Amino acid sequence: MIRSIVRGVGSSLPRRIMKNADFEGVVETSDEWIAQRTGIRQRHIASDDETTASLGEAAARVALADAGLTPADIDLIVLATSTPNNTFPATAVEIQNRLGMHHGFAFDMQAVCSGFVYAVTTADLYIRSGMAKRVLVIGSETFSRILDWNDRSTCVLFGDGAGALVLEAGEGEGTIADRGILAASLRSDGVHKDKLYVDGGPSTTGTVGHLRMEGREVFKHAVGMITDVIEATFAQAGITAEDLDWFVPHQANKRIIDASAKKLGIAEEKAVVTVNLHGNTSAASVPLALSVAVADGRIKKGDLVLLEAMGGGFTWGAVLLRW
Ligand code: UT7
Repeated sequence: MIRSIVRGVGSSLPRRIMKNADFEGVVETSDEWIAQRTGIRQRHIASDDETTASLGEAAARVALADAGLTPADIDLIVLATSTPNNTFPATAVEIQNRLGMHHGFAFDMQAVCSGFVYAVTTADLYIRSGMAKRVLVIGSETFSRILDWNDRSTCVLFGDGAGALVLEAGEGEGTIADRGILAASLRSDGVHKDKLYVDGGPSTTGTVGHLRMEGREVFKHAVGMITDVIEATFAQAGITAEDLDWFVPHQANKRIIDASAKKLGIAEEKAVVTVNLHGNTSAASVPLALSVAVADGRIKKGDLVLLEAMGGGFTWGAVLLRW
């Protein structure tokens, strides 16, 4: 059977780093509060010349180089983002143009923090249907542009960045020993749409708007939703937490990561944690964490890796793959 196999990975972060202490005097907060409640120590913030498209392009170029490929080898770009350069056209098309790619097709996916998990699942379906052979899957965000910098309950939590994977069609036996994407589950429930949202948009206010979140409410639902969708993915693949080599969760809050891993029986040392370095980068957080864990030698060819995310909508999902 056809499997979607990871051939390359890459990332890109804005030049400017903002430490927790940099918020002191801006809003009523402290390094101690932010670090204790979230695990965040710093985040990267885009400068005027850095956008979702430029960061996405840079991450894509690193992933292509890692794969030993060029844009000519790619036939689809799926970009997960909630902070596009423009309302339209899709920022994926802008990245396509920046890469000098004038064949194939490109589109954006919007599932907020779950965007990358949705995009990987979508790319896998295009590959397995035969409609695409090599797909660039990118998560790129500039949440700094939609934050209310006077709201201490949200502005300290998010950061900017991008990560990318090259997925390629390969042959598998149809067992979980195969390399590539092995199982996936996606969920959403719009009943929660007002717990994490942006208070503007083209069809309502005609403005971009700012991020609003009932943090405690999101936290309350997060662990249960994450563990349910992961258990569904384990059941699909016929595995247990012990079979996993690496757990690469969405990086919103270290306490959510720890609580989910504990509830699932995933050993603490198998969790890849980068929220301390990047903050919550929404759809970019999972590929950024993957890049870090591949670069430092933790994730190796043949390892069983679980991706997971939960965010606005609510949306949530998990992907199991063998690297
Ligand atoms: O990526 C999409 C998914 N998003 C998430 O998963 C985020 C989920 N939520 C969270 O991570 C946490 O709920 C937060 C980090 C947002 C907040 O942590 P918490 O432990 O739930 O704190 P809280 O909202 O219950 O607030 C505790 C106190 C409040 O004061 P009172 O009402 O107890 O007097 C807040 O006003 O902390 C206050 N507070 C702050 N204090 C200092 C809120 N923000 C800050 C701040 N600095 N930046």
